[in-house]
Parts: sequence; C-alpha cells; structure tokens
Amino acid sequence: MIPDRIVDEVRERADLVEVIGEHVPLKRAGKEFKGLCPFHQEKTPSFCVVPAKGFYKCFGCGESGDVFSFLMKHLGLSFNESVEKLAAREGIEIPRRDARPEEDALAPYREAVAFAADFYQRQLREPRAGERARRYLEDRGIGDEAAERFLLGYAPADWRALRDAAHRHGFDDQLLETAGLIKRSEKVDEPYDRLRDRLVFPTTDVRGRVIAFGGRALGADAKGPKYLNSPETPLYQKGNELYGLAWSKGAIRKEGAALVVEGYMDYVSLAAREIENVAATLGTAMSPEQARTLVRYAGQTLMLYDSDTAGLRATFRSGDEILRAGGHPLVVTLPPGEDPDSVVRKGGREALAPFLDAAVDILERKLQILEERGFFEAVDGVRRALDGLLPTLRAAKDPTLRDIYVDRVAKRTGVRRETLEQEIAAESPSSRRAATQRVESPGGPPPSPRTHDPTERLLLLLLARDPARLEQTVDLIQPEAFRAEVNRELYDALIEHAGRGGELAALETGAAARSLLDELLGDPVELTNPDAAFIDAVEELLLRPQLKRLEELQQQIARAQGQEQDRLLAEKIRLRRLMAEKAATVRSVAARGTNRWRK
Ligand code: UTP
Ligand code: MN
Repeated sequence: MIPDRIVDEVRERADLVEVIGEHVPLKRAGKEFKGLCPFHQEKTPSFCVVPAKGFYKCFGCGESGDVFSFLMKHLGLSFNESVEKLAAREGIEIPRRDARPEEDALAPYREAVAFAADFYQRQLREPRAGERARRYLEDRGIGDEAAERFLLGYAPADWRALRDAAHRHGFDDQLLETAGLIKRSEKVDEPYDRLRDRLVFPTTDVRGRVIAFGGRALGADAKGPKYLNSPETPLYQKGNELYGLAWSKGAIRKEGAALVVEGYMDYVSLAAREIENVAATLGTAMSPEQARTLVRYAGQTLMLYDSDTAGLRATFRSGDEILRAGGHPLVVTLPPGEDPDSVVRKGGREALAPFLDAAVDILERKLQILEERGFFEAVDGVRRALDGLLPTLRAAKDPTLRDIYVDRVAKRTGVRRETLEQEIAAESPSSRRAATQRVESPGGPPPSPRTHDPTERLLLLLLARDPARLEQTVDLIQPEAFRAEVNRELYDALIEHAGRGGELAALETGAAARSLLDELLGDPVELTNPDAAFIDAVEELLLRPQLKRLEELQQQIARAQGQEQDRLLAEKIRLRRLMAEKAATVRSVAARGTNRWRK
C-alpha cells in the first residue's frame, strides 16, 4: 500500500499534459489541450486534457480519468505501478517496508540461478556450441529478438559445463544442487549438470526474476523426456508460477483477459507474434494459486488447451479453479492435433483470431458436449450429466455468474432451480439421491422462500451463521439496502435481536422471514473463505446505488455536450472516488470487528 499522502503528492506534482503528451500528440486550445483519442479510433481530435482540473476526457468514446488512470488504461499498469512510475520521475520517494528476512536467505540461490541463465544465454550465442540450438529455433520460427526477450538459452552437450563455470565463480556444489542446477547420482562420483544439450526456457516470478528452467530436447531422437524441468527449490514451488506472466501481465491487464496455454513453445510462439496477453501452466492443470494470480490480473481467462480427452479434462479442471477464484473461464477449441503454436506458425496471428472469437463459456462448453452426446434425452443421462455439471456450478463463486449458470442448467436439463440449488449445496451421496428422486416426481415440495438475489442471500447466510458479524454491518448497511422485502425484514430482525442478545431460535419476526432464516440455518454449503465472501457481499450491497448511477452517467456522458458534459464528468470522478472510499471503509470495518455485542 502506498500512503494516500504520497498518492496525492504525486498527482499534484505530475504534469498531466506532459505525461499524456508523451503518448498522445496534444495541441493547445485555450485552457485545454486536444489530440486524437488513444482509446478509440478517430480521425478528428475529440480527446481533451484539462490540466486545471487534473483530468482528461474523450468526447468520442467517453473515456476519462486522472493521470493515474491514463497510465493504467494506456500502458496496462496497476494503480500502484502507475503511482510508482510517476513518483520516480518526480523524484518522490515511496517509503518501503523493509525487505523481509527470508528474502535475504534466498539471495545465494537467486545469484546461482541468475548466473546459470546468463551462462545458457551465452552458450546459445556461441558460434559453434550454440549452432544446433539456433537452427532448431529458426526451424520453429523463433527469431533472435524473441529468443533474447524470453531469455532463451542453450545447455551444452557436456556433463559438467555449467558446474565448472559456476565453480570458477565461487558457487559450490551444495548451492548448485539445492538450486536445481546439478544432480548427484549413485553411479558417478561427481555431480553433473541437470540440463544437457537442451534448449533452455528460463521461468521467472511475476517480478521477472529467474527462478527455474525448462529444457527441451533438440530432436525427436534425443534421449530422455521432451522437456526436463527444475525440481522444487527454495525459489520455485511447482504450481505457484505461471510461465511468462512477468512479461505479459501488463497486456493481460490491459486486455482484461488472459490466454492460458499449456507449453513453453505455445507461449513464446504467441508472444513473438504480438499476441501478448498469454501465460502458460506448463503441462499441468491449473492450481488454485495460479488461478488466483490470474484472476488478480484479469477477470476473463481463455483456455487454449489441446482438444483431446486429456486436454479437455485439464480445461474443465482448470476452468473450475478459475471460477473458484472468482474469474470467468472461456474455452477455445482448436482443431484436433493442433496447439496454439502450430496454429500461428501456419497462419500467423490472424489464424488464431477466429478460434478466440469463437471462445465459449466453460459451462456452455460442458453443456454442448453433453448435448452432442445425447445425455439430455434420458433420465439417467440427465442424472449423469448433472454429476458432470455440479462441480462447475459449485465452483462459480461470482454470485451473478452462479445465478446465470443455475438458470442455464435448469433450462437445458429440465431440472428445477430449487432442486439444483439443493444439489449444489449437498455433498453426500445420500442427500444427492434424495434430491434426484424429486426430479422425477411431478410437483415436488413447495418452493422454499427464495430471495432471487444471490448477494443478499449470501450476506444473510453469513450473518445467520455468525451473528457477531452484524456489528460490522449495522452501521454500514441499512435494511433499505436489501431489495427483497423478506430479506429486509430478516436483516431488520437480526439487528433488533443482536441488540438484545440470546439464541437466534428466539428471533421475533414474520413467518416468511422466519422460514428464510430456517432455510439459511439448514443450508449445508461450505464456504471456502467466509471472511472474503462477507466483505465482497457487504461491498456489493453498499455500492449498488453508486454502480447504478455510474451506469446512468456513462450513458448521459455519451449523449451530453459542452458544459453539461463537464458537469457529468466531474460527477463521475467524484462518484468513483466515493466508491473507492466506501470500499476502503468496508474493508477496514470488516477487518476491525468491534466488540459491541461479543461477550
Ligand atoms: P506438449 O507435449 O504439449 O509440448 O507439453 P509443447 O509445449 O507443444 O512443446 P513442443 O511444441 O512439442 O516443443 C506441454 C507442456 O508440458 C510440459 C512442458 O511444460 C510443455 O511445454 N512437459 C511436456 C513436460 O514438462 N515434460 C514433457 O516431457 C512434456
Ligand atoms: Mn507444441
């Protein structure tokens, strides 16, 4: 976190016209500056910078904001990065927390690995030794520029080339072994290089520091597996990193979407052809950690895995992880036998575009496949189809997406929403059976008092389970914030009750709210992170009126002109700021937790 006073100081000092002027040619027009809008295509300038007010706006597309949002949108930086960039140029120092002690302990490994990366890179450029590897790259359409950009190297066909060079630089065997660079074996006395006669792909962390290597065999006849990778080391935990993310994060943020591929080559091949918003999982299904990382950078994930059975399984497993991380996964289906690299090698980046355009939502893809295979034609087929769909429904963490998913499955399978909700909540086989029987019995039990608002329901569920959370919501959320009347009534009653203390069973309220409470208390759903879900729900409820106003403003701004538009833009900026403040309040209140009602 950069302190607010620093952010303000940077905003004050940065020269808006100068900063934007570096990216967009601007001409003075009175107190303002005009230019061609960088955010949409246009021939006559409607992009306007107003230094006195500290903002820019485009009358064509409606984009507007301050100096930070310009860098965020134009360069794909995060907020912090844009503040840091401007602070550096204004000579404003951002106070840093001290480097963590564990970082120091890792320093020797970083040095060894950095040395190795450099060694491999130099070998690739060696006239004789690196020749085969350079030819291999050439054959695969990877030019020098890409090789350099992605730090590609070559591990010579020698048992101890890296080890000897490292020794001369004072790295000892113990360190080299722990860093995953050399190996010991019972059969030989001396440890030897892990990668030999292989093309080397260094993997970096998100900050761009090399932490591990993958080595590709140079021919089909080569010994050993196609790719050899670093083992786990103090720097590298498998399943934590995404290959290429350090180089792509800006583009991923800017596009709002990440293309996820399986292999080193897929990554390099796409990135070298200016498809920049890519990251690779390196042949394994996505871990929760990787999914969370990706979702931090972009809400959408397009998965470009093999279209064979194994690839499809990996796609669905990874997709569910993305859903659990709160993101939205889409599936790109490539022709059988192709991977992203082979597609762009044959037809360039244009060849990939139609497949990307045809990307399909993950649940939709599942439904398509089940439909093609005739699963929805018989009752037992529906049962088995549901078993395949439920993990995805359960994984969908985003309340809106989840709601849409449940709706879709209900429509396509003919299973009622209520039944689906129960199935989603149920984990045990016995309760699953109980729920299925109802699929076939016409009529079934009366519908439970559903609330039709996933966020409100989730918040009430969390409050019912842990009424102490009410002390955090009571000052923030008024009952009127709830849309559904029954929700409002229950929330009201919960607050009343919390003030008096005692068991929830004794809660005084109307019949509808009572039965909603019973339903909530009987809901077996297990939330992986209730605290985070709570904060999200509170924030969403609280920001609803602003979000609505923001949408209206967006439309009004597009239609308005002149002073009227200025006024609306100023309101939008104020609104954004207010929303950010509100969100910050929610987070601090939720983290604080006073002791008003806790005994
Ligand atoms: P693929 O077999 O799809 O290879 O493995 P690829 O990426 O298309 O590579 P090329 O085009 O044949 O050179 C996908 C990923 O799985 C991991 C690697 O990360 C690879 O990029 N993998 C594959 C291994 O770790 N070891 C192997 O033996 C094979
Ligand atoms: Mn390939």
